[in-house]
Amino acid sequence: VQREMSTLQRVYVTRQIPPEGLKILKESGQVQFELWDSDDVPVSRAELLKKVKGVDGLLCVLTEKIDAELLDAAGPNLKVLSTMSVGFDHLSLDELKKRGIRVGYTPEVLTDAVAELTVALLLTTSRRLVEATHEAKTGGWGTWRTLWLCGHELANSTVGILGLGRIGVAIAERLAPFKVKKFIYTDVAPRPELAKAINAEYVSFDELAKQSDFLAVCCALTPETKEICNKELFSKMKNTSIFINTSRGGVVNQEDLYEALAAGQIAGAGLDVTVPEPLPTNHPLFTLKNCVILPHIASASYTTRNAMSALAANNLLLGLRGEPMIKELKL
Ligand code: DGY
Repeated sequence: VQREMSTLQRVYVTRQIPPEGLKILKESGQVQFELWDSDDVPVSRAELLKKVKGVDGLLCVLTEKIDAELLDAAGPNLKVLSTMSVGFDHLSLDELKKRGIRVGYTPEVLTDAVAELTVALLLTTSRRLVEATHEAKTGGWGTWRTLWLCGHELANSTVGILGLGRIGVAIAERLAPFKVKKFIYTDVAPRPELAKAINAEYVSFDELAKQSDFLAVCCALTPETKEICNKELFSKMKNTSIFINTSRGGVVNQEDLYEALAAGQIAGAGLDVTVPEPLPTNHPLFTLKNCVILPHIASASYTTRNAMSALAANNLLLGLRGEPMIKELKL
């Protein structure tokens, strides 16, 4: 038994991940893993730095910052990092690359869930559902009124997508049956293959701001996209427009967004992501009726979170065997 144990590769898992992924790790016979056995509290930085020492593989979620300090603490055994997320802004890719560490992530399996939630958030924001349920249960519901709680409809609208990838396409596919008139998008370059599927027109960032009745942010957070949604953008948008962000909070300058919403420069915003997370309950954005804030739940369906954990586990095991991962980041 002693000898067998020593041939197993050592892995640290930074979260109690959903059961499908854990089962794969347990039954693999390939790794000996230690787990931060909570989903309610993230592993502390100090604990993480201690636990990664000497591991061959690391499975993390988006709350862990994987940087030079952490990789140094892990040491030269670390060969594979697998994140249970499609986003990778929490990873220092340069540092990983420098050390020859391979990186797995979990795109595609969450596209449907994220698109579905984005549509839900968009409709909740544009049709003012949070305000409406609040009024209904707190006595604000008087007689039927002609303009009370009116919002903006998708029919005949122009929907803009900032950053057209799989998720943007999936959102557009779901919105099309609502009789959207036109889809437009911007990105670093036109993406004709993806755009064709949803008949979307490539426009400049400026035109995206000006034309969009609904603007959905679907880009990754990178140094180039950091706070790209700022007062310059909001000032060009129509005062009837709805801004939706299910990508990363860092893409938005939140002070500028607050100003735009408070001044009525745009009609409303729906955010599933913020800076920081959790957003403090006394944050000014929470005081606005025209801002709907969700606690980063776009991929939160049982099916999807299990699929993400299974993919993250499989990526890790394949990487540790020196085989191609199912979904590996090109560094
Ligand atoms: C991700 O995967 O990056 C999401 O933000 C959480 O599902």
